[in-house]
Amino acid sequence: METSMDCLFRYPGYELPLKDIIRSENCYLYDADGNRYVDLESGVWCTAIGHGHPRVLKVMNEQSGRIAHTGFTYTSRIVDEAAHAILALHGFESGQCAFLSSGSEAVEYGVRLAQAINSLPMMLTMADSYFGAYGAASARPAETWFSFDWMACANCDFDADCSDSCGRWAAIPFDQIGGFLFEPGSSSGLVRFPPEKLVRSIAAAIKAQNGLILVNEVTTGVGRTGKWFGYQHYGIQPDIVAMGKGIGNGYPVSVTAVSRQVAEKVAHSGFKYAQSHQNDPLGAAIALEVVRIIDEEGLVARGKEMGAILLDGLQTIQTRTKAIRSIRARGLMLAVDLEDNDNSDITRAVQQELVRKGYILARRPGLNTLRIDPSLTIEKQDIENFLAVLEKTLIQFQNLR
Ligand SMILES: Cc1ncc(COP(=O)(O)O)c(C=O)c1O
Repeated sequence: METSMDCLFRYPGYELPLKDIIRSENCYLYDADGNRYVDLESGVWCTAIGHGHPRVLKVMNEQSGRIAHTGFTYTSRIVDEAAHAILALHGFESGQCAFLSSGSEAVEYGVRLAQAINSLPMMLTMADSYFGAYGAASARPAETWFSFDWMACANCDFDADCSDSCGRWAAIPFDQIGGFLFEPGSSSGLVRFPPEKLVRSIAAAIKAQNGLILVNEVTTGVGRTGKWFGYQHYGIQPDIVAMGKGIGNGYPVSVTAVSRQVAEKVAHSGFKYAQSHQNDPLGAAIALEVVRIIDEEGLVARGKEMGAILLDGLQTIQTRTKAIRSIRARGLMLAVDLEDNDNSDITRAVQQELVRKGYILARRPGLNTLRIDPSLTIEKQDIENFLAVLEKTLIQFQNLR
């Protein structure tokens, strides 16, 4: 049957160059005509260990055959097992966690927890962060959220930690702030990484007044940035961590994990949160298997290694073609800004040509940024092939600039 996809709501501004993907395997997608594509965006950062990982498929099959869903009044041992494994990743001994359905929900859950136990009314965050499609962190009303614009701090050359001698720092109303919600890289999908000194200084200031550090690891988690979690690049210890996307490898499960100290305060706070798919055994079993696979197969180190190869290749292309304005990268979270005289039509054309040649990259409409976020399991040969195709494509479009 001929289909147009017109009956589906879609996010405006994005083309749909591939209309009938019927099969996937690791970093490969296959369309109905038998064409193969290398997925370099992991389905928006989700398939951390590749599409259809055989061990994940086996667990999905076995766990859904046993029990997929429970309600509030009964549970299953596998959920507890998964919780222990995830808490251990953060050093949250005797902490607690909740399995939820999406990244937005995991962040929202963390924020509500923090607001239930915070003694100060406001939350601090970075101005350009993205926390999800809905909820308090998405809306960020000015009465309860202070959004700090860190872009001016990106090239700060003062050695000392941030202090009131800096006007930007002095403007942060720390005396009203009970929590810091931090996205350790991505910043509205543009792959920007806030500076380490700033983040460490903020975390220290918040901790000094017994505030909470919440980290949004929805995109940066489970090995994406060359470490298990993005916050580990900053030497900070969070109190609450929201995980999503990669933890389910494409299955909609997310997790909010908290330290023992937070869990104890929450227990006395009267905090309530209920939805139908909270702590479901199927999602928990998948998250547990993803964590085990990453651990047993050494995929964090592998992702770091593949990221270094990609970055090196992109830098070489940048030197040789002069078609790349800038590159930002941490592990397998990379972005290139193309030289297209701020005319994003060229970036769009490059992306479309790459799709035609079998490579899927992410692009935000109207911008000159291409994002590259393959699975930790990508083959080195696929990276090398992609780099060769990218270079040829950029040269092909160079005369349009
Ligand atoms: C940094 C970040 N946080 C949270 C979310 C929300 O996750 P989800 O789309 O699974 O609700 C996203 C989604 O893109 C994200 O990029």
